[in-house]
Amino acid sequence: MSIRMSYILLFFLFHMNKRKIIDNVYWLGGIDWDRRLFDSLIPLPDGTSYNSYLIKGSEKTVLLDTIDPSMTDTLFFQLKDVEKIDYIVSHHTEQDHSGAIPAVLKKYPSAKVLATKKGKEMLIDHLLISPEQIQIVEDGEEISLGDKTLKFIHTPWVHWPETMVSYLVEDKILFSCDFFGSHLATTDLYVKDEGLVYEAAKRYFAEIMMPFSKIIRKNIDKIKHLEIQLIAPSHGPIYDKPSFIVDAYEDWISDTPKNVVVIPYVSMHGSTRTMVEYLVGALAKKGVTVYQFDLAVVDIGKLAIALVDAATVILGTPTVHAGPHPLAVYAAYLLNALKPKIKLISVIGSYGWFTKTIDQVVSMVPGLKEVEILEPVYVKGHPKEESFKSLDIMAEKIAEKHKELNLL
Ligand code: FEO
Repeated sequence: MSIRMSYILLFFLFHMNKRKIIDNVYWLGGIDWDRRLFDSLIPLPDGTSYNSYLIKGSEKTVLLDTIDPSMTDTLFFQLKDVEKIDYIVSHHTEQDHSGAIPAVLKKYPSAKVLATKKGKEMLIDHLLISPEQIQIVEDGEEISLGDKTLKFIHTPWVHWPETMVSYLVEDKILFSCDFFGSHLATTDLYVKDEGLVYEAAKRYFAEIMMPFSKIIRKNIDKIKHLEIQLIAPSHGPIYDKPSFIVDAYEDWISDTPKNVVVIPYVSMHGSTRTMVEYLVGALAKKGVTVYQFDLAVVDIGKLAIALVDAATVILGTPTVHAGPHPLAVYAAYLLNALKPKIKLISVIGSYGWFTKTIDQVVSMVPGLKEVEILEPVYVKGHPKEESFKSLDIMAEKIAEKHKELNLL
């Protein structure tokens, strides 16, 4: 066998074929089993997938999103028998979905890219696509594919400003891109293990959509009146029971937190850890659910998931020089950026001889509006009897607040 033939054989062996969803509607895309980090920030413990979809109408053929540029070969393999693409829908400009659009346009030069007005600007800025190749679609606009109709619904800030979803009217399929997605590498075309998908989808929501919860509320209201049989996101499996993920989102974006305290902490010589463990015990005795995360080893996705439900966050940090430990600074930054619906916040920890930690931590979370700051418990050296009494008082105040909010 020639080298060229061997290469072709390998190419065919190692790419997953496109998969039929219903007649003339296909899943295409890549399963990225080994990717462990997204945006050089977000851990992907279960890998991810980049889902693209192909709709063959009686007159027009549409490709919905593309694939991460690292897997362009896979998409091209799946498109090998597709002679013409009339439209490429770009629901979202982030490169894991749009990165292969320039290559697809080279293969199908007469195709038009459909995007929101903002999406058009961003495709030009980020992917250097020529403006003539992009057609703006308005909110509620429909295009006919012959025997099928695709309707566009603008859903901004999921999680970039230009995002939209599309709805295949006759077949009642919502193509939602990041919205409702889950970072999960799986060969399951549809959700099979609901527990696994729930956690992956909650992790995804927590990491990128939680700061936009109020806008996501409006976006859910925009799609709720549609009769939906399938939700086909661009990451993770397809939902054949759409209420499973829509109900989960309704819970995550609600203004009401749960009876949960999250304690991200870092300890250098054990004093802060001793205080954290004491507070965890005191809160548990009062019937409060507590999640304790050592910031030196934490999976920030797990921390973000816990923040979705938390009513209270207590940051544990020693003083390094005059201020908080750098890992606590990172946690405070994330907290401020993710904007969870917490109602109470405070700091506990230990210092050696001088500290400005409390003031510095408070100044790092200006985005947490309407959050009550509880009296911190900050001790010199190792915690002593009066320190533990102060932690008991802190636990009592947290439990009282949770009762006042009808959480406990
Ligand atoms: Fe899956 Fe925001 O990209």
